Amino acid sequence: MDAVTTDFIHVFEPGTGASRPPLLLLHGTGGDERDLLPFGRMVAPGAGLLSPRGRVLEGAMPRFFRRLAEGVFDEADLIARTHELADFIEQAQRRYGLPAPVALGFSNGANIAASLLLLRPETLAGAVLLRAMSPFATPPETRLAGKKVLILSGALDPIIPAENAARLADALTRSGASVEHRILPTGHGLSQADANLARGWLEA
Ligand code: MLT
Repeated sequence: MDAVTTDFIHVFEPGTGASRPPLLLLHGTGGDERDLLPFGRMVAPGAGLLSPRGRVLEGAMPRFFRRLAEGVFDEADLIARTHELADFIEQAQRRYGLPAPVALGFSNGANIAASLLLLRPETLAGAVLLRAMSPFATPPETRLAGKKVLILSGALDPIIPAENAARLADALTRSGASVEHRILPTGHGLSQADANLARGWLEA
């Protein structure tokens, strides 16, 4: 396996005084660190935004971990990349003076956020997972007592099978997280309903 460092290209936008946790923005396949900034500003006005670019390339498309095929993940790489991202988060917290962030991930970014919850739960205060699936065939046991997670799935999503998102919700719930899983009448792309629900959940 390649050596990994904690050096991520990233954007950090400081919060503007609002006493809310920063958001860790995690883009989808082919995105970059700028993709979710407008969405983050919309759903958490005033929050600090920490947005890294995934370090794995699939062709020219950045991702957060390798996959063998669509929906089939290289779990050894996923584990290594999850720890690499967790180390980056801890480094960024020290560098920018931040409390643990709430992850807001889309698609591949939601999948690595789920993996962070399962493998390094202390790095996140909670998570909003947009179009997520279970990152592991057999999710590891972990302790997530008190961790709040919002999962927003699309009923018409051609990439994420509904039963797979439900499996992720189950695994997180069994680990003690407080999970809200909503299925929206939409596809893989984000909709206004995602923004409204994420904003309401982050405010509560
Ligand atoms: C993944 O590879 O993480 C999922 O298939 C979602 C995506 O296409 O990025």
